[in-house]
Amino acid sequence: MYINRTCLPENYTSFFFLDLYRRFPLTFLVAEENGEVVGYIMCRVETGLPNFGLFGIIKKGHVVSIAVMPEHRGKGIGYTLMKEAMKNMEKYNAKECFLEVRVSNRPAINLYKKLGFQIVKVITHYYMDGEDAYLMARKLPF
Ligand code: ACO
Ligand code: ZN
Repeated sequence: MYINRTCLPENYTSFFFLDLYRRFPLTFLVAEENGEVVGYIMCRVETGLPNFGLFGIIKKGHVVSIAVMPEHRGKGIGYTLMKEAMKNMEKYNAKECFLEVRVSNRPAINLYKKLGFQIVKVITHYYMDGEDAYLMARKLPF
């Protein structure tokens, strides 16, 4: 929660963090350096319509939030958190992975593109301050 509040304007209650951790422990991961937590990713598996050529209702892994402390960025931690979370989404039978990201968030957009995500659409006024989001998604398995 400290990293979330330090790194992002979208913050959540402790109930919200614990609920995601209890329901989807395999995709709630932290990165540690010398025993100190320096990054996290938390996800939720949802059911919905596919973004890529499948039919019917599928399970999709939703990356709710990811952040790495500023002094630990640029070392592959965000990439590894995403990769491990996507591998574990398959254990929950997810067929796709998706997320929302601010259209101005170049580091995060680049990270997701490097991981094979495509921009599916723009969600206008997604954020509290009025900024638009890209909905980005990719097929699983990673
Ligand atoms: N500028 C441009 N591209 C970048 C940058 C940057 N400053 N940082 C990372 N990237 C991209 C690059 O493509 C990079 O690959 P490369 O090194 O081959 O060029 C790729 O991301 C992987 O970089 P990592 O070192 O793994 O990323 P890092 O550990 O620094 O974490 C993160 C990236 C999580 C986006 C970090 O910058 C952060 O915590 N930002 C603030 C919080 C945030 O914006 N979170 C995402 C919000 S959206 C959501 O949660 C669904
Ligand atoms: Zn979301």
